[in-house]
Parts: sequence; C-alpha cells; structure tokens
Amino acid sequence: MISEEDNILLIDKKGKKYMVKCKGTFHSHYGVLDLDELAGKDYGIKIKTHRGDDFIVLKPTFIDYIEKMRKMPQIIQPKDAAMIVTVTGLSRGDNVVEAGIGSGALTIFLANTISPGKIYSYEIREDFAKIAEKNIKEFKLDNVFIKIKDIYDEIEEKNVDLVALDLPEPEKVVETAYDSLKYGGFIFAYTPSLEQMLRFRKKARDYFQIKTIECILREYESKKLGTRPKTLMIGHTGFLTFGRKIF
Ligand SMILES: C[S@@+](CC[C@H](N)C(=O)[O-])C[C@H]1O[C@@H](n2cnc3c(N)ncnc32)[C@H](O)[C@@H]1O
Repeated sequence: MISEEDNILLIDKKGKKYMVKCKGTFHSHYGVLDLDELAGKDYGIKIKTHRGDDFIVLKPTFIDYIEKMRKMPQIIQPKDAAMIVTVTGLSRGDNVVEAGIGSGALTIFLANTISPGKIYSYEIREDFAKIAEKNIKEFKLDNVFIKIKDIYDEIEEKNVDLVALDLPEPEKVVETAYDSLKYGGFIFAYTPSLEQMLRFRKKARDYFQIKTIECILREYESKKLGTRPKTLMIGHTGFLTFGRKIF
C-alpha cells in the first residue's frame, strides 16, 4: 500500500521514469498529477494528469532507486555490481568492508544483498559521505556504517567476507585487506584504467588467487526493419579484479 512518506516511481506513456516523494503535486510534460490522492492505494494503479494522460505508479526497486538517486563521483554501475555478487557468491548475512562510499551506489546494491549482514564503508570526503548517507536513508537500509577514515591507514573489521575497493590506489590496501578477510573471502578492486588494474594485480597476486574480468552489456532493439544490437552502447566502465584468500 502507498504511504505519503514513500518514494514512488511514476512511468509516463513513453516509458520515462520519475522517482518522487508521494506528496503534493508533480508537474510533467503531460500535465499535473495530484500525488496526495495516492495515499492508501495499492501499487500498480494508474493516475491521470489534469489533461487526462495516464502514469503508472510502481514501488521503486533498488535498481530504479540507484538509477534515479543523487550522484556525485562516478558510481559502480549495477551491471558491474552484479558481477561482484556472481563471482564472490556474496549472500544474505555476509559482512563487507568497502571504500570509498562515493554516492553510495555500490553500497546500496551490496547492503540490499547481504542484509542483515553489515557493510562498513570508509570514505575520506565528508561531503560525499553526507550524500551517500542521505541516499541510503531514503532507501531505508539500516545495515550500513559509514566511517570518515582513510582506508590506506587501516581496516578495523576482522573476519569479513569481502573487501570492495573503488578508489585510485587499491594496491595500498592489499595487506590490510588480507588481515581483515576470512579464509575463502574476496578482495575486489574496480579500476577504470589498465595501468591501475596491473598495479593492483602485481601486488595482490602474492596474497590472493587473482582473476580480472570486464562486463560488457549490449542491448538489442526491434524496429520495423528487424531486430539488431543497438548502435550506441557503453564501451567500457572498469576492470573488475577479484582475489580470493586461499593462501
Ligand atoms: C569513484 S568514488 C566511489 C563510488 C562508489 N563506489 C559508488 O558506487 O557510488 C571513489 C570514492 O573513494 C573515496 N576515496 C578515495 N581515496 C580514499 C581513501 N584512501 N579512503 C577512503 N575513501 C577514499 C573518494 O573520496 C570517493 O568518494
């Protein structure tokens, strides 16, 4: 049931998505929606603008939420976050250390996956931490603990399942991550450039069983003349390097 405190997802007749608080009015190209009339109704209903156009009202998934939330530094895309779960087998109840939190996109993905497990997020910039904290709070997650700390100095947590790194020099965290991880746990480094990826691998291979992958996503489109891959796509986001603690 929809409550006035909810973030709701509105989808217009062309499929465009908007995430808004379910309060007051929403002004669109198709006219004005009175959102106050939605409280107490079930998700999935349609609401009409004052001009008579329909919008469907859905409960946002965590992927809708990540897509629409406020972002400052570059985020780890859900396609890459999904590979982290695929390779590591991260599950409900697991515990994670990550750095930095940035806008909190990876944090929300992982926290949602491991709940009631905990995620400890190190971040050196208070302004980014505040944005991430707001995003996490809006999504009502209570298993994220943000630390304004430099992860290059230390990792306080022990016996964790994953140390996930999205920062410029992940190789500086290899030894502390090794001490923090349980046997069978993983270190993960997201590196946009080959040089960063190679620096990390060179250091990490003495401690972990290493593998690097890239996730390339290609969408298809159907038009009158036929079905084919879309002409434009995101060519590269980052290299995903995983190391398992087995030594
Ligand atoms: C690209 S952003 C992370 C984005 C995040 N993974 C997401 O999906 O929203 C990199 C972040 O790492 C932080 N950072 C850089 N060096 C750090 C360090 N030594 N310790 C903790 N955080 C650090 C930066 O301030 C920045 O917020």
